[in-house]
Amino acid sequence: MQYVKLGRTGLDVSRICLGCMSYGIPDRGAHPWTLDEQSSRPFIKQALEAGINFFDTANVYSDGTSEEIVGKALKEYANRDEIVIATKVHGKMRQGANGGGLSRKVIMAEIDHSLQRLGTDYVDLYQIHRWDPNTPIEETLEALNDVVKAGKARYIGASSMASWQFMKALDISKQNGWARFVSMQNYVNLLYREEEREMLPLCKEEGIGVIPWSPLARGRLTRDWEEETSRSESDSFGQSLYQASAEADRKVVERVAEIASERDIPRAQVALAWVLQKEPITAPIVGATKLHHLQDAVAAVDIVLTEDEINRLEESYIPHPVTGF
Ligand SMILES: NC(=O)c1ccc[n+]([C@@H]2O[C@H](COP(=O)([O-])OP(=O)(O)OC[C@H]3O[C@@H](n4cnc5c(N)ncnc54)[C@H](OP(=O)(O)O)[C@@H]3O)[C@@H](O)[C@H]2O)c1
Repeated sequence: MQYVKLGRTGLDVSRICLGCMSYGIPDRGAHPWTLDEQSSRPFIKQALEAGINFFDTANVYSDGTSEEIVGKALKEYANRDEIVIATKVHGKMRQGANGGGLSRKVIMAEIDHSLQRLGTDYVDLYQIHRWDPNTPIEETLEALNDVVKAGKARYIGASSMASWQFMKALDISKQNGWARFVSMQNYVNLLYREEEREMLPLCKEEGIGVIPWSPLARGRLTRDWEEETSRSESDSFGQSLYQASAEADRKVVERVAEIASERDIPRAQVALAWVLQKEPITAPIVGATKLHHLQDAVAAVDIVLTEDEINRLEESYIPHPVTGF
């Protein structure tokens, strides 16, 4: 495994981050396709054995049970000082007032709930899952700074939002001497490259670590266009991401298959190698529901695509409507 610094921080992260949205009690929360605790544990163990030290979850995944399952397994299998646990806040955890969003009250309550579920006294990276248009960003940033100062998070990060929003937040933190976002978790893959326009150059300029979610387009880049899996059939958010540009997307998927066949490697390795080579990406957050998915992710780190292969993978892409936030 290769390790790199997360943006301009001194934090070492593996070039593959394990996405833990796949692990959680299936009938809790919004992801009926998740693996339960017993089926999830081997993935966390195998990831650690392969040198992956970076794990991403969220309070909202499977109604908190992803944090519980992941926290318990990491406690058993890993050395806390070596691993990097990332979680998120914003999604609605309860019906009624103050159940979600990024107010000071919600952040202060949710960090404690996450720590309790994860069974740790700090997270390494505390991320805002989305922008909250109903809370002043100053309130959110000051609360996050207090979370860091209280020792409950080592760093803070952000996830999908407009580039102007992210730049505004970075600037306000700087003006106030508050902890600044060190990472951007955004949607980047061969089927969605709109982040190359503004967000990726901004992250490069500001030294922000980039950790894309759904780097395999939720599996669409790994198989024939028509092929469905039990996850793809019940993944309603995933379905909403791939409607607008289906014909163009299909050509990209076919090109991935072509290059994989020429190299005699699985398609997932080609699609992930492309993400890994795209500057300034730090580590894709990979979802694994079968153990060979992890092996492919780890193998992708050592694949170097040629300029010609990259051109062939990219040439069929057409601009997509902005999505993912
Ligand atoms: N910040 C955000 O808003 C946000 C949003 C989404 C996700 N995330 C994070 O990103 C992580 C990854 O998301 P994701 O699961 O959508 O990512 P992904 O890596 O694009 O998709 C994972 C899916 O791709 C298929 N797959 C993976 N490896 C494969 C391989 N080697 N061969 C064949 N198929 C393969 C599997 O599909 P099947 O299960 O269908 O076989 C798997 O469930 C999440 O766990 C979460 O931590 C964050």
